[in-house]
Amino acid sequence: MRVMHRALQLEAEGGTYRSLGELEHAFVRLRPEWALHGRRVAVLLESALGRLRRLSLRQGRALLLAARLHDVGYLGLPGSPPKVRLDAERMGALRARLLRIRAYWMEQDPGQIEAHLQELGRLWVLVNRINLGGGVGESDRRELERYAERCVSVSGQAVAYLDFGELQALLSGSGVCYEEAAPPWRAHVSEGVRLLEAIEEVPSEACQYVAWHHERLDGSGFPAGIRELPLPAQLLVAADMFDSYTSGSLDPARQVEALRMLEHMVRAGRLESVVLEHLMAALQAPPAVF
Ligand SMILES: [Fe+2]
Ligand SMILES: [Fe+2]
Repeated sequence: MRVMHRALQLEAEGGTYRSLGELEHAFVRLRPEWALHGRRVAVLLESALGRLRRLSLRQGRALLLAARLHDVGYLGLPGSPPKVRLDAERMGALRARLLRIRAYWMEQDPGQIEAHLQELGRLWVLVNRINLGGGVGESDRRELERYAERCVSVSGQAVAYLDFGELQALLSGSGVCYEEAAPPWRAHVSEGVRLLEAIEEVPSEACQYVAWHHERLDGSGFPAGIRELPLPAQLLVAADMFDSYTSGSLDPARQVEALRMLEHMVRAGRLESVVLEHLMAALQAPPAVF
């Protein structure tokens, strides 16, 4: 009770926590969903750690601590980001494809361009509405499926209006995750680092891993947009994304969808492929209890 009181007091003050125990306790009490997410990410990483040959014991411990507390910065922010079915990254990829399709029709069918633009606009509005939690009615489902069957050929490459993974995520709700990349919520990274740095017993490597957990190898991440990430940090990125999409669900369809999203990250140069191999091996590893 006393700890709870102190945690609430600290939250109100936007203050710091003096020990790891105090911080972890406050995290579980005040942001239970985020604390659970952190624990699941740590469990997943623990199974993968054995595959990182050059990781010292100290680094391994720091990585697991960072995994548990990588989103602890939400303690210092009011509320949580909204849940979405397609995150900013996937919405960005969809938007880029729709722009390519628009350019294609401008060149190939300028006489009917108004009709093509209206069709693209309807899809974009529909996806945005569903993505932010709007219900999917029968007519929405039919319309999404109709879009998913359409594609144009640009330089010999098929460009889909809506790809299968996007359709699945929008229809089934698989791939539901928090929109952490939206600007007001990006501060959870620096806030988390600030909280951890204030605690003497937290190794600096753990703070570093937390600082990197939204970075991507192609520089598209935040907050720093760096282009170099050591393998353990990439593994945390991958495990974090995997759990964001599955929320701990063992439903194979959700896991496959999450892995497909990570494969897309590898193809886009945002993660090294070996990271995905480690993660997949960890998913197949028997639970530590056996
Ligand atoms: Fe995060
Ligand atoms: Fe996370």
